[in-house]
Amino acid sequence: MDVLIRADYDQMSKTAASRIADLVRKKPDCVLGLATGGTPIGTYKELIRMHREEGLDFSKVRTFNLDEYLGIGRDLDKPYPQDQSYARFMYEELFKSINIPLKNTRVPDGLSKDPEAFCVEYEEAIRAAGGVDLQLLGIGGDGHWAFNEPGTSLASKTHIEALTRQTLDDNYELFYKGAGFSRDDMPHFAITMGIGTILSAKSLIMLANGKKKAGVVSAALEGPITSQVTSSAIQMCAGKATVILDEEAASSLRNIEFYQHKEKLKATL
Ligand code: GLP
Repeated sequence: MDVLIRADYDQMSKTAASRIADLVRKKPDCVLGLATGGTPIGTYKELIRMHREEGLDFSKVRTFNLDEYLGIGRDLDKPYPQDQSYARFMYEELFKSINIPLKNTRVPDGLSKDPEAFCVEYEEAIRAAGGVDLQLLGIGGDGHWAFNEPGTSLASKTHIEALTRQTLDDNYELFYKGAGFSRDDMPHFAITMGIGTILSAKSLIMLANGKKKAGVVSAALEGPITSQVTSSAIQMCAGKATVILDEEAASSLRNIEFYQHKEKLKATL
């Protein structure tokens, strides 16, 4: 695992975007695994800039998103609550501003009539696409990846997950507050790729920024591998995981100096 520490959110986002852009240039029909949340927005903004100013071409790229709330989903013409869906988020924050055909983008279908069957189908679709080449990840306040809450098996595949009180609180801040809805109006379940699904990606980039994430980042990277902090599974990603942090999110790590030293050494290879 490589840990790259950047001065601030902007630099973290630029480093992540440049890695994604390198892959898109090298493999124009690559499969990207995408994430929602506040963390990746800067990365998406930089990819949009690269598309507009440098002609970064997404016309053959295919994407699979990590997760979606159960009960809301892709219906871009309909207002709330559909506009709180992750499908909508991806459209607004990235897809509408780059040249990716919408048919190449998949977000789990939170409106599926048979969500259990959908989960199996989603796994099959990822496999049929040749697997995810690069999976982008944030980290939840309770250490989750996607919506894999504490206690989820580290071997899990796409499944339906109940959300913790902390996740509901965190995500209420992000999406629901201000829209006049109470926290209890939020969906309490989600469809999510499992940790096993995420680990089967050919490479992973995990992002975190801000003081608020420092404790959970240190638990994930330097604590025990445990289903209580599902992102600690990153420690099992031999040679394919890169963690990009701003200084605040890195501030509780024990081995900061070594990570910085290693990055400098690797640049000389
Ligand atoms: C949600 C998403 C996660 C994301 C997390 C953190 O729970 N399901 O994929 O990593 O939020 O969000 P933020 O980046 O806003 O801190």
